Amino acid sequence: MEVVIQSSARAAADLAARLIADVLREKHRPVLGLATGRTMEAVYARLAAMHSEDGLNFSGCETFNLDEYVGLPAENPHSYRHYMNHHLFSKVNVYLRNTHLPDGVAADLDAECGRYEQLIAHAGGMDLQLLGIGRNGHLGFNEPLSSFQSRTRVVTLAPETIRQNARLFGGAENMPRQAITVGVGTILESRRCVLLATGSDKADILAKAVEGPITSMVSATALQMHPDCVVIADAAAASRLKEGDYYRAMFASSPKWAKYRDAASQRLDGHPNEMLLSRGRNT
Ligand code: GLP
Repeated sequence: MEVVIQSSARAAADLAARLIADVLREKHRPVLGLATGRTMEAVYARLAAMHSEDGLNFSGCETFNLDEYVGLPAENPHSYRHYMNHHLFSKVNVYLRNTHLPDGVAADLDAECGRYEQLIAHAGGMDLQLLGIGRNGHLGFNEPLSSFQSRTRVVTLAPETIRQNARLFGGAENMPRQAITVGVGTILESRRCVLLATGSDKADILAKAVEGPITSMVSATALQMHPDCVVIADAAAASRLKEGDYYRAMFASSPKWAKYRDAASQRLDGHPNEMLLSRGRNT
């Protein structure tokens, strides 16, 4: 696992978007694992901008989302299908038929879970799996005690997850109690995992996920065993990490991250010409 700390939430989301863009450019038939949540909105906005401004091409890619609420059809504005169409799919040149989410209104939910696993396997698995983190450490909707070998299945949402997401539904009473999620085992089979966490409300759980003991009580700790996992955090989410200085030194000096460092310093958090202008002033 590598941890990359960025100064702002925007810089952290930009870096996640660049890692995804690199997969889109480098792979012939890229397969992306995608996530929902407030954190990801900035990543999808950046990818949409890369498509409209730089022609980033999504036409060859296939996508699989982590999860969907049981009982919500695609048209429901709270469904993750609706979220994905709104934030990303309608803004880039992906073929909708190549975008997949579990069907939360399938007549046979267990059969739907099996079908989804098979679809992922048929696509050859994920080249890159984008992940957020819930406040209880869930990945997708893998709530505490999810087996690290778990596959796509129906789960009951934990009280903390219901509390966390209830505001989006206008109250806990309106929120589904179950969801379909890909498993921790499914996630661990992705060739690369990129977890993005921003904001101070993720600081405690991120410290547990990254530096705590590996335990199924915190699903995200499974990523410590993944051979190619990058955790990207802004300074607020990283504030409880004990080894923050080491992670910053790693990003500042590792040749592997050079091209991403340079891009970040040229952008100076949203002011593309500021560095050139200040250089001009000083010389
Ligand atoms: C939901 C999703 C998770 C996501 C989490 C974090 O619970 N199922 O995949 O990681 O939200 O959401 P946010 O980014 O809004 O904090």
